[in-house]
Amino acid sequence: MSKIKTAFFCQNCGYESAKWTGKCPACNQWNTFVEEKVQKELPLRQQGWKTEDARLPKTVHLTDVETMEEKRLLSPDNELNRVLGGGIVAGSLVLVGGEPGIGKSTLFLQVALLLKGVRTLYVSGEESEQQIKMRADRLQIQNEEFYLLTETSTQTIFQEIKKLEPQLVIIDSIQTLQSPLIESAPGSVSQIRETAAEMQRFAKETNTPVFLIGHITKDGSIAGPKILEHIVDTVLQFEGDQHYAYRILRTIKNRFGSTAELGIYEMTGAGLRQVSNPSEILISQRDDMLSGVAIAATIEGLRPMLVEVQALVTQSVYGTPQRTATGFDLRRLQLLLAVLEKRGGFHFGVKDVFLNIAGGLRVEDPSIDLAVLCALLSSYEDVGISHKVCFAGEVGLSGEIRAVNRIEQRIAEAEKLGFEKIFISRYNKKGLDFSKMNIEVVPLGRVDEVYRLLF
Ligand code: TYD
Ligand code: MG
Repeated sequence: MSKIKTAFFCQNCGYESAKWTGKCPACNQWNTFVEEKVQKELPLRQQGWKTEDARLPKTVHLTDVETMEEKRLLSPDNELNRVLGGGIVAGSLVLVGGEPGIGKSTLFLQVALLLKGVRTLYVSGEESEQQIKMRADRLQIQNEEFYLLTETSTQTIFQEIKKLEPQLVIIDSIQTLQSPLIESAPGSVSQIRETAAEMQRFAKETNTPVFLIGHITKDGSIAGPKILEHIVDTVLQFEGDQHYAYRILRTIKNRFGSTAELGIYEMTGAGLRQVSNPSEILISQRDDMLSGVAIAATIEGLRPMLVEVQALVTQSVYGTPQRTATGFDLRRLQLLLAVLEKRGGFHFGVKDVFLNIAGGLRVEDPSIDLAVLCALLSSYEDVGISHKVCFAGEVGLSGEIRAVNRIEQRIAEAEKLGFEKIFISRYNKKGLDFSKMNIEVVPLGRVDEVYRLLF
C-alpha cells in the first residue's frame, strides 16, 4: 500500500505547499489554501489513459519532423469555428469557462447535436440522462451519432471511450471528474490537475478533440481550472449578463489561432442562436433623436461592430456626484469627464453621470471613447445626435482625438449599415480614399471641434 500524504493547495492558482499558509506566495491571494490528500508514489498509471506500448522518448531533429496540415473539424456553428481559429483542431484540448447558468451545457449540447456524422460522446457529471434528453428535445435537433454518458470516474469514462471510439468528446464539467488515482474530492486542485492531464494524454494519443467545460467564479477566475490554462491548448470564455439574451464566446488563449476572436449568440427559447451581424442587435431601432445616445464604430476581435452608447447626465442632489458605468471601464469614464471639465470647460463636477453600453456588452476597444464623450455632451446639453452619425476615435488626456486601428473596416461597416457620417481622428485620414465612399468622413483634431460640429 502506498502511503497517503496530504498537501495544501491554493484554490486560486494551484500552488502546492507542505504547510498551511495564509497568503499564497505565488498569486498573493489570502486564505486560499485547502488541505487535500495526494498520493505521492503513484502505481503505474494503468487506470488512467494509456496506450498499449508506451513509447520511449527520443530526441529528433526539427527538420526531420514532418509538417502536417492541422486537421480541423468544421462545426456547423460558425461562431465556434471562428473563436477556435477556423474549426476544431484534431487532438486539441479546449477549456471552456463560464459562470454557472450562462449556457455552457446548452451550447455544447447544441454543437454536439448539430455535428452530423461525427461520433460524439457527451459526458455529464452534473445532469441526469433525463435532464439532458429534455434539453435536447427543447433544442429540437436529432443526431444518430450522439452518445451520452453520465459518469464522473475517469476510469469508467475511458473504458467507454475505448468501446465507442468517439471522434469528439465533451466533458461537462471538469470539476465533477474524479480519477481513482487521487484521493481528494472532485473539484479539488489535485483532482482537476490529474483528470485534465489524463484527458490531455487521451486527446494527444488518439488525436481526438476534447472539450472541458469548467465553472468560473464571480470574480472571473476559473476556480481550480485556472491551473489548467497552461495544460490545455485553447481557453474559451463564455460570458454575458444573465439578464440579457446575448452571450459572448471569447478566446483567452489559443495555440491554433488568434486570441482576438469573438463569437456572439443570443439565448432563445430553443437554444442559442448565432448572431452573425452583431451591429443590428446592438443598435436599438428608433427614428427620433434622443439626447445622450451616440453610436461607436468599434472592433471586437476582428469584427467591426456598431455599438450604442447611452449616457445620462443629471444635476447631482447629493454632495458627492455619482458615476456609474455598465459595460465600460469606470476609471476611463472618470478620465473622459476630467478631460471635458479641463479642456472643454464643462461642469460635470456637479452632475451625476450614468453610462451604459446597450445590449449588455462589455467594450474594451478604446475607439469607443469619442462616442462616450459625445453621448455625455449630448445628455449634458440635452440635444440629440442624429442616428445617422457614428464615431470612432480614442480621446487623449489633452483633449486630442487619437487615431485608431483598422479605420477602413470601421468606415466600411458604418457605410454598410446605412450611416451617413462618421467622425474620426484627423490622424486617421492619411491614406484614406474618400472618392469611393458613400459616407461622409469628418476628421477631428480636438474635443472642442466635435462640440462645435454637433451642437
Ligand atoms: P446551462 O446550459 O444549463 O448553463 P451552464 O451549463 O453554463 O450552467 O443554461 C442554463 C440557462 O439557459 C437556463 O437558465 C435556461 C436557459 N436556456 C434557455 O433560455 N433556452 C434554452 O433552450 C435552454 C436549453 C436553456
Ligand atoms: Mg451546465
